[in-house]
Amino acid sequence: MCGIVGYIGKGETLPILIDSLGKLEYRGYDSAGVAFIDGDELTVVKRKGRLSVLADELTASGRMARGGVHVGVGHTRWATHGAPSDENSHPHLSNSGRIAVVHNGIIENFSELRAYLISLGYVFRSDTDTEVISHLVEHHYTGREKGNLLQSVLETIQEIEGTYALGVVCSDSPDLFVAARKDSPLVIGLGSDGNFIASDIPALLQHTREVIIMEDREVAEIRSNGVRLFDALGHGIQRQPIHIDWDVDAAEKGGYEHFMIKEIHEEPKAVRDTISPRIRDGRIVLPELPWTREQLEACDMIHIIACGTAYHAGMVGKYLFEHLCRIPVSVDVASEFRYRDPIVTDRSIAIIISQSGETLDTLVAMRVAREKGATCIGIVNVVGSSIAREADHVVYTHAGPEIAVASTKAYNTQLAALYLLPLHAAECMGRLPEDRDRQCVDALLSIPGKLDSVLLEKESIQRFASLHFNAKSIFFIGRGLDYALSMEASLKLKEISYIHSEAYPGGELKHGTIALIEEGTLVVCPMTQPALLDKMLGNVREVKARGATVLGLVSGTSNRPQEVCDALFQLPEVDAMFAPILAVTPAQLFAYYIAVYKGCDVDKPRNLAKSVTVE
Ligand code: F6R
Repeated sequence: MCGIVGYIGKGETLPILIDSLGKLEYRGYDSAGVAFIDGDELTVVKRKGRLSVLADELTASGRMARGGVHVGVGHTRWATHGAPSDENSHPHLSNSGRIAVVHNGIIENFSELRAYLISLGYVFRSDTDTEVISHLVEHHYTGREKGNLLQSVLETIQEIEGTYALGVVCSDSPDLFVAARKDSPLVIGLGSDGNFIASDIPALLQHTREVIIMEDREVAEIRSNGVRLFDALGHGIQRQPIHIDWDVDAAEKGGYEHFMIKEIHEEPKAVRDTISPRIRDGRIVLPELPWTREQLEACDMIHIIACGTAYHAGMVGKYLFEHLCRIPVSVDVASEFRYRDPIVTDRSIAIIISQSGETLDTLVAMRVAREKGATCIGIVNVVGSSIAREADHVVYTHAGPEIAVASTKAYNTQLAALYLLPLHAAECMGRLPEDRDRQCVDALLSIPGKLDSVLLEKESIQRFASLHFNAKSIFFIGRGLDYALSMEASLKLKEISYIHSEAYPGGELKHGTIALIEEGTLVVCPMTQPALLDKMLGNVREVKARGATVLGLVSGTSNRPQEVCDALFQLPEVDAMFAPILAVTPAQLFAYYIAVYKGCDVDKPRNLAKSVTVE
């Protein structure tokens, strides 16, 4: 949610800010703005709409080309308080016009602070929670004889409650800006010609690979020749930068029309990178997880906690853990887990799944599980993210940067991890016969090659999408692992194509929702589980009898689905337990091509943001 950047140095600030914001646009794209100091004047330019609207304005006014600006902060917004508009866009100025603030997060006590500041005579120009920060910083800044921006921000963060990543500039101090964070990601980039802040590392990669990850309640004073880091009480902190060694190309489109299709094509590599280092001599090796047979046998419950796509991966994880380890598993949407008073003990294991590692609900749900005594294992993609740092143990997925808002390769790699973990646990518990263990490991190792074969067939999915992109409503039905897969397939379709879609267990439709099936309604039916095929074929006949057009997604050699479906997509032969990690790819391609045919903005779907750092 919202992306923030900041720069101070010898380089030209405006092109740097706009370029870096471009790398963060996936975090929010309903408005954008910059604040910069030119001479001793603080200027704010902000506009509703995409970043390009702001960039065009800076170019048309000649501001971009004129140069001579060496400090500034920028923002792309995903609205929480107040509709997208010029006024509600960041940066927000203080009343004197001397201080400007960019903010990612939510200030929970903003109503009280707003009333307090109004009583002091401050005038509010926006509906945002952020504006209280600008005025509070100014209040503290003017309250002392000689204004001190760092001290004013330190005092401000004592008063605000909620989540924040902040960048603050002040026209009196063109030689520095101040950053702060709590529960919203923020990194500092150390460059040769200046220093940076950003909500996410890809925004910095063009300029530097030396990065300091800020921790909660830390404040930083950023100057062109150095950075000082403090705790919330203003005590200095020393932290070594980390070196980022991913390829810049990983965050670029590399010739593909959209990030989403590029990232789908990266799935074979992402899955290979996630599993191969963890298989040695036919056994799963997970040094990240020091769990023992005793701990696993004593475990009373595994809680899988996640949001959105990661939650759907967790649904697959439940089947696998229960099937392979015979440990009861509950899967919760993080925002529900937090508030439902779950039964968690010190014998419980919580598995927290998150691509970004920053989803606020997931992070807080992990803290709840931890407080209640659970051992928390993170399955996380972004190295050094909050969930990765706070979990007791972390198993990284190696998907590389995922830029498209709709998650694709991250899901496949989450599933890869969710095969590794229960297989490893089952091995530790001695629950898996040797020959079945070998079959599973072989099946897992064969997945990347099979994903390559699925991608070779993408044109048949594209053809099918070309026939159905005008559909008003598309249903997905499946049983067992195919139901978990259907949930993800349906989410993918609705989030990028805006077509209404629902996913149901095959047996559940007739308990109400079948009323919505009418002549021509498209129903997509994954049928990858031989043990459930008869039942599924019955469900397909039920919807066909009401006029549905059925696309079957099948693996295996049975030609019975062919007899009832209108069209089929054939997956490579695969052990049924591993079908979801293959079958999701045609579902992602289907959603992608439908959205492209409809002319939707595939990488930046409306109302969404990549990293959901608000409740
Ligand atoms: C859907 C999607 C979201 C995320 C969800 C959790 O395509 O991307 O549903 O899966 O917001 O995000 P992470 O995995 O970063 O915690």
